[in-house]
Amino acid sequence: MDFSMTVLVTGGSGFIGSHLVCSLVNRHPDWRIINLDDLDYCCSPKSLESVEDRANYTFIKGDVCNSQLVNHILNTENIDVIFHLAAKTHVESSFETPSSFQRVNIDGTRVLLGAAHQARHQLQRFIYVSTDEVYGASVDQVFDESSPVRPSNPYSATKAAAEYLVRSYWDKYKLPIIITRSNNIYGPRQFTEKVIPRFLTLLQMNRKCTIQGTLPKSRHFLFVDDAINAFWLVLEKGIVGEIYNVGTGCEIPIMQLARELVKMVKNVPDSEVNEWLEFVPDRPCVDLRYPIKCEKLQQLGWRAEVSWAEGIRQTVKWYQDNPDFWSDASEDQEEIRIHVNKDSGKAVGSPVPCCLTDGTQRDAEQ
Ligand SMILES: NC(=O)c1ccc[n+]([C@@H]2O[C@H](COP(=O)([O-])OP(=O)(O)OC[C@H]3O[C@@H](n4cnc5c(N)ncnc54)[C@H](O)[C@@H]3O)[C@@H](O)[C@H]2O)c1
Repeated sequence: MDFSMTVLVTGGSGFIGSHLVCSLVNRHPDWRIINLDDLDYCCSPKSLESVEDRANYTFIKGDVCNSQLVNHILNTENIDVIFHLAAKTHVESSFETPSSFQRVNIDGTRVLLGAAHQARHQLQRFIYVSTDEVYGASVDQVFDESSPVRPSNPYSATKAAAEYLVRSYWDKYKLPIIITRSNNIYGPRQFTEKVIPRFLTLLQMNRKCTIQGTLPKSRHFLFVDDAINAFWLVLEKGIVGEIYNVGTGCEIPIMQLARELVKMVKNVPDSEVNEWLEFVPDRPCVDLRYPIKCEKLQQLGWRAEVSWAEGIRQTVKWYQDNPDFWSDASEDQEEIRIHVNKDSGKAVGSPVPCCLTDGTQRDAEQ
């Protein structure tokens, strides 16, 4: 079959990537969708079961840092569009193994850009999926796309470094890049190390939600379907060379998040919610909040359509209906148990705040 367009998604087996791949495969049977992913610990083959036999879907198991492989794909597959999502994404791990984050997030991006630049078939779009975390923390400043980049952990530092590489290919070669910077994305199939599935998994194991530190952290949460719609819009209408924030006004304090999830999963009255919460020591250096403005994307016509109430309802229901989805990732479930056991019994954590340049404090991220 002749396809009218070929789209390469890197990291297409991960949480966001699998939603993106399913959306691309389903919406466009006339497009060929290639997923390059090395199936890191955070992936389940079940995430792409619904599309794996489709004629317009191809999976390549491989490392985005492998220049021979990536050059070969770009030289032989006539790639029109790249969505680059492959990355190491767990902030906490980035303090423990920063070099693996540098390798995948920076080197992987460099390899992909180099291959895209030298490919015989001319690329139409290179969409780099970045994060609001590149702005660093804010107490009251709302970041737009021109705000300075001040990443404050190894994960966000590598994402910011990769952004600079991506932009340099626009500046120097006019490679048609677009960068998105999105809020925390949540929804079904997210791996259990991220805050919402972590709380849900703990509650499903009849364990308490572990709240790291005592400072009032909050996050802006964007439902995965809204994020995917933003990526579609950026592909269709985004201006090359531009950066687009992708976010919502839905800011949820982590404590409130835990309380909501306890009520939904354990079905207990307010008076019993605290019995399901446990305070544990904080991580060394974490940001309080990342407020962003999304006017540029809204001017293209995007609005988040899924309310927090609806998004979290769908998410909780999915984890309740699929309690064994992540059981293959037993090592990481075990990791959660180790963290929980290590944390439990300790006194309320005393976070080590680090100074922002404006003199305010940062606290550990969930
Ligand atoms: N989840 C969020 O809240 C969020 C918010 C903003 C931006 N992002 C960005 O979106 C992208 C996807 O995030 P996610 O939440 O789906 O993460 P994820 O951890 O679920 O998925 C990452 C994917 O990258 C793959 N990968 C890792 N190393 C690789 C390598 N060397 N070669 C090929 N593939 C590799 C993994 O196997 C996995 O499929 C990341 O770039 C992340 O920085 C995520």
